[in-house]
Amino acid sequence: MKILVTGGAGYIGSHTIVELMKAGYDVLAIDNFDNSYPSVLENLAKITGKTIEFEEVDIRDKAALKKYINAHKDIDAVIHFAANKAVGESVALPLKYYENNVGGTVNLLEAMQEANINQIVFSSSCTVYGEATPPVDENAAIPVAQSPYGNTKQICEEILTDQSKACDLKVVALRYFNPVGAHESALIGELPIGVPNNLVPFITQTAIGKREVLTVFGDDYPTPDGTCIRDYIHVVDLALAHVAAINYLAQKKYTEAFSVFNLGTGRGNSVLEVIKTFEAVSGVKLNYKIGPRRAGDVVQVYAACDKAANELGWRTQKSLEECMLSAWQWEKAIASSSVN
Ligand code: NAD
Ligand code: UD1
Repeated sequence: MKILVTGGAGYIGSHTIVELMKAGYDVLAIDNFDNSYPSVLENLAKITGKTIEFEEVDIRDKAALKKYINAHKDIDAVIHFAANKAVGESVALPLKYYENNVGGTVNLLEAMQEANINQIVFSSSCTVYGEATPPVDENAAIPVAQSPYGNTKQICEEILTDQSKACDLKVVALRYFNPVGAHESALIGELPIGVPNNLVPFITQTAIGKREVLTVFGDDYPTPDGTCIRDYIHVVDLALAHVAAINYLAQKKYTEAFSVFNLGTGRGNSVLEVIKTFEAVSGVKLNYKIGPRRAGDVVQVYAACDKAANELGWRTQKSLEECMLSAWQWEKAIASSSVN
């Protein structure tokens, strides 16, 4: 099978390309390098031993996207990662998010329909659940989104549902919990541009000396140690779930045209547990302080993962220790290279 990966130079896209190629799939990738670097493609070639079939295409450019897809009509399925993902930025620049995340998805679906490509795996997020009681399963209510970014994920799921009813489109929407860590080669990983918003890159950047101090956003939450709880999933486990989703589509295991799965470990860890695990595996004492709560933070969220286990035949294999160790090895690798 030939799989098109949009956003293939990005964090999750690049790890997914490795696992797809390992599983024997032919992969094509597109990206506009809005939040990634061309060097990722060289590093993917080092890991896989093959040149990645890549073209620089912006999914907002409908004509260019259609031209590209029409030239590759033998694509069997698309995995759609390309999007902007910074929650804070989406509040300041909502139209950027609606144009790219929603408009880009519409362009992609139009191009796929024209070329008779009728299978798609979509990157959604646990952010669609807002404040829910964990473990959160796929039937949990979807409240009004707390940010334009979260809204783009809800809207795209609706667009995909509608399109799957209107034509012969099969959709797997994957709701990721908190992706962290990096490939064991330390050749690919997350490359946050500017000051990271997310916990794990902030930890590793503080440990390496790029940031002076990590602020823990609140220790007065109703949790055992007072800090927020999340479900941290290793990016390689996440990548493997995409291979499972492609297999699921290929083997027509779905019962409905639109299927949705949570991708998490099913385990909740507090901010302090993450910090302590990092210190244990890295041997580095982290400079951190307790600060005020961050506006908009959910107290605790972790996934119910039974659906993915039962229907996709997938579950996570990696521990929080492996997440933190690989994130640390990646941080050390980027510190000693010219990237970033
Ligand atoms: P990322 O920014 O590393 O990767 C996205 C890639 O898409 C980047 O390489 C970027 O350059 C590219 N891109 C953006 N706009 C594009 C456009 N118009 N045309 C072509 N390429 C474009 O992000 P990621 O962490 O790999 O996330 C991938 C997907 O998963 C996104 O849809 C994101 O919303 C979703 N997601 C991510 C997380 C997370 O924490 N990382 C959590 C839940 C969902
Ligand atoms: C963020 C996004 C969410 C996205 C998710 C997965 C927001 C509001 N939400 O959620 O849409 O789906 O990432 O990538 O940005 N923390 C600190 N200090 C820091 C950074 C974070 O204490 O410097 C804490 C946070 O308060 C939170 C936890 O660490 O409790 C995880 O934070 P983060 O990595 O930003 O992820 P989420 O808040 O879960």
